[in-house]
Amino acid sequence: MPRRRQPRAPWTLQRRLVLTVVALLALVSITIGAVSVVILRASLIDRLDVQLASAVERSGAVLGIGDNDGDRFGDIPGNTFFGTPTADSILGGPAQPPGLLALVYDGSSITTGYTDDQSGAIEQLSSDQVQLLADQVNQSAAVTVNLGGELGEYRVQVQTSRTGIVYLVGLPLSGVAATAAQLALIITLVSLAGLVVVAIIAAWVVRLALRPLQRVTATATRVAQLPLDRGEVSLDDRVPTGDTDPRTEVGRVGAALNRMLDHVDLALEARQASERKVRQFVADASHELRTPLASIRGYSELTRRSGQQLPPDAIHALGRIESESVRMTGLVEDLLLLARLDEGRELERQPVDLTMLLVDAVSDAHAAGPDHVWNLELPDEPIEAIGDEPRLRQVVTNLLANARVHTDAGSEVVVALTAVGDRAVITVTDNGPGIPESLADTLFERFARGDSSRFRGTGSTGLGLAIVAAVVAAHHGEVTVDSEPGHTRFRVELPIATDQV
Ligand SMILES: Nc1ncnc2c1ncn2[C@@H]1O[C@H](COP(=O)(O)OP(=O)(O)OP(=O)(O)O)[C@@H](O)[C@H]1O
Ligand SMILES: [Mg+2]
Repeated sequence: MPRRRQPRAPWTLQRRLVLTVVALLALVSITIGAVSVVILRASLIDRLDVQLASAVERSGAVLGIGDNDGDRFGDIPGNTFFGTPTADSILGGPAQPPGLLALVYDGSSITTGYTDDQSGAIEQLSSDQVQLLADQVNQSAAVTVNLGGELGEYRVQVQTSRTGIVYLVGLPLSGVAATAAQLALIITLVSLAGLVVVAIIAAWVVRLALRPLQRVTATATRVAQLPLDRGEVSLDDRVPTGDTDPRTEVGRVGAALNRMLDHVDLALEARQASERKVRQFVADASHELRTPLASIRGYSELTRRSGQQLPPDAIHALGRIESESVRMTGLVEDLLLLARLDEGRELERQPVDLTMLLVDAVSDAHAAGPDHVWNLELPDEPIEAIGDEPRLRQVVTNLLANARVHTDAGSEVVVALTAVGDRAVITVTDNGPGIPESLADTLFERFARGDSSRFRGTGSTGLGLAIVAAVVAAHHGEVTVDSEPGHTRFRVELPIATDQV
């Protein structure tokens, strides 16, 4: 299977900015360099053309044929040169510049030659080169001719005398080319050095400029790691004031983040307040219900036992009132306890003898469920936990009640206590039908109960395990469950009381 190519990692802002600056500078450098070299070359050629013009006039004077342009060179009336006009006579003339090239056509024959730059000797041109030059005789202005080989480019000027002799004089462009190349090299080197320096400075400046953004990011990251989903949260982290100046881009991000954090903080506070209010309401309501419930129970019991003759229906109704008020009292007590645990109200912190507690709880369970088989496994040494005795008793009671209520008669329940390191471990194991699959995720939540128990009308409310979880958590312990049909084990871990306490 062909491997999918990973998308290329995006460029960082720093990289992009630095590369853009460097690229722009490189473009500018190249443009300036190219324009400079072209201008320099043009002006050097202009200078060469001036030299060439004077060389032409001198040559005319040497040949004595004049050029009739009205200046002092060559405008000599009559012919002062009595030999045959040849290239050699031009090259050998006085004050001719080195590297001069000459071609003379006197109507019948062509003579050519040039002075060697180094030795000063007069050399001949090859026939190809002569041909190249001969092609230029119709040009009136100075032109550039590439003669190839060692000679390279020449600037040449053609002149025709009054007597009809055509002569051509040239000067080498090698000096121009060398100077232009040198300038190009210097510009290139300076530009490269400049690019490196600019890249370093740009990277530094960009990093400096992005530092506030890093601080903003750090704040956002810290806030993102806070557990905001429950309880009292203090969202104090803010972007430092220095990074919230709305006149800068990063400052605007920082300020926006701070405003958002303010909002979130307010929202969390509002949520916390409303949660507290609900909890307070449940606690108050449960508390207030206790007294009227006790009265209902008391009066119904009193009426039932008053000895007066009551119709059987009324006796039955009173019985129902009594039992329902007992159930409701239990429910109200549970709700009150949960509300108080939610409030985080301090529990007692006393050493509690778990051994004794289990003995009592199992014997109560045995009385309540004589059809079940109850087993208790205790360690040789008594184990004490630190905590609130009545609450811990309730934990065990709830677990034993579940093992009794949610299993069939005849089921076996094993209650065991062990010490593992500095933790006391209580397990309640039964061989009943197991916890319904649908409850797996919400078992310890309030009002989570299996359908079967509701239909059985056992008075199940689904608060038992919620209380177990809340009490154990308040003791810094842990409760876990492990259930399959035929084997359900609740495991409660509590910190053991050490001698120092
Ligand atoms: N040992 C167990 N075996 C099988 N199912 C259980 C066992 N313990 C709990 N359950 C299931 O978990 C549900 C929740 O238990 P929980 O103790 O919280 O509520 P409850 O027993 O239904 O009501 P309450 O304890 O408030 O009277 C139960 O309804 C039952 O379906
Ligand atoms: Mg229960």
